[in-house]
Amino acid sequence: MNIELTEEHLAVRDAARDFAQNVLKPGVIERDEKQQFPAEEIRQLGELGFLGMMVDPKYGGGGMDTISYVLAMEEISKVDASCAVVMSVNNSLYCWGIEKYGTEEQKQKYLVPCATGEKIGAFCLSEPEAGSDATSQRTTAEDKGDYYLLNGTKNWITNGGSASFYIVIAQTDVAKGHRGINAFIVEKGMEGFNVGAKENKLGIRASDTHTLLFNDVKVPKENRIGEDGFGFKFAMMILSGGRIGIASQALGIASGAYELALAYSKERTAFGKPICEHQAVAFKLADMATEIEAARLLCLKAAYLKDQKQNFDKEGAMAKVFASKVAMDTTVEAVQVHGGYGFVKEYHVERLMRDAKITQIYEGTSEIQKIVISRSILKD
Ligand code: CAA
Repeated sequence: MNIELTEEHLAVRDAARDFAQNVLKPGVIERDEKQQFPAEEIRQLGELGFLGMMVDPKYGGGGMDTISYVLAMEEISKVDASCAVVMSVNNSLYCWGIEKYGTEEQKQKYLVPCATGEKIGAFCLSEPEAGSDATSQRTTAEDKGDYYLLNGTKNWITNGGSASFYIVIAQTDVAKGHRGINAFIVEKGMEGFNVGAKENKLGIRASDTHTLLFNDVKVPKENRIGEDGFGFKFAMMILSGGRIGIASQALGIASGAYELALAYSKERTAFGKPICEHQAVAFKLADMATEIEAARLLCLKAAYLKDQKQNFDKEGAMAKVFASKVAMDTTVEAVQVHGGYGFVKEYHVERLMRDAKITQIYEGTSEIQKIVISRSILKD
């Protein structure tokens, strides 16, 4: 495996770092507090090519590799994990799915505007009773000839209110189990499609997470992705790629908190010297740095395999389960290093601690990742 970073990779990382530090950082505390969607910041991210990073330039994308995506996600997430999840869902769960499995017409209509960042997309799998158990879809898509009649409710949908286009997973034929599930592209504004309540969340508060309601929505047949019954496998494959994005988000949350703790520990003195010179703090920093490096290598390995067109399901799940635990552990310790200051908003680490938790839950809980990993190990 060669994951030596090229000059192009470093340029992408630096551009993301500049954007995060100069554009995202100034308003991040306020957006978190007010649950304010970063619309202008997302528009600028689109202009920089970060919303369709891996999409072929002929469809308006950046034509970059997955390693670049990991590097950019880490930098954005260090500062603003809410912005990062918008970016991750649009890149991995929306654009990648349509580019890989969509028709040419679907790509022109639904991929190009989202790859350029003119519009954003969402991915709708979770339901009130089907999050981890993804085959138990209650949303139905009845085949009516030249259209499907969509009925049901989707929960916890990232970009739920701000997206223009939605990939929706629904059951077409219950008798066929997961082979009766399809994926559809639904447009905001289609009759019977309504955006429901916005969630008031612990973390990633500036991202908009909504319930979506579908009531007799007529979805044209040409909006189905792939062959009839392909929807479950499509969702699994897309989520597998998405896990690299969320692992990188977790990595960024961890490294952002670590950098803040490191800087603070050099400035703050106690008992006559900077606190980083006390072994109790120095060892915390050593643990953080080691775990973050391991998480970064797992993310890069999964990205490398994906770029090499090799199977990365196990490695993506390993990266996600490990990086999200590192995010949780590191942010808790970063608050501890800051002492009382860590508990107030101005020092950023309390927000990163709150943001970290979701990385152990969405795009498959840590327990789901362990199912994927253990099945893979046992099959080998
Ligand atoms: N690639 C291709 N095919 C796959 C696959 C993959 N990665 N994973 C499973 N499949 C296929 C299997 O081969 C099988 O097909 P066949 O029957 O033809 O062989 C079929 O899919 C069913 O697979 P399983 O029997 O393994 O299915 P399962 O019911 O045991 O579930 C699971 C497996 C891994 C637990 C899966 O349900 C899962 O990943 N659940 C978590 C879903 C999830 O991530 N939810 C989060 C919501 S999305 C989100 O959070 C987005 C957001 O807004 C941030």
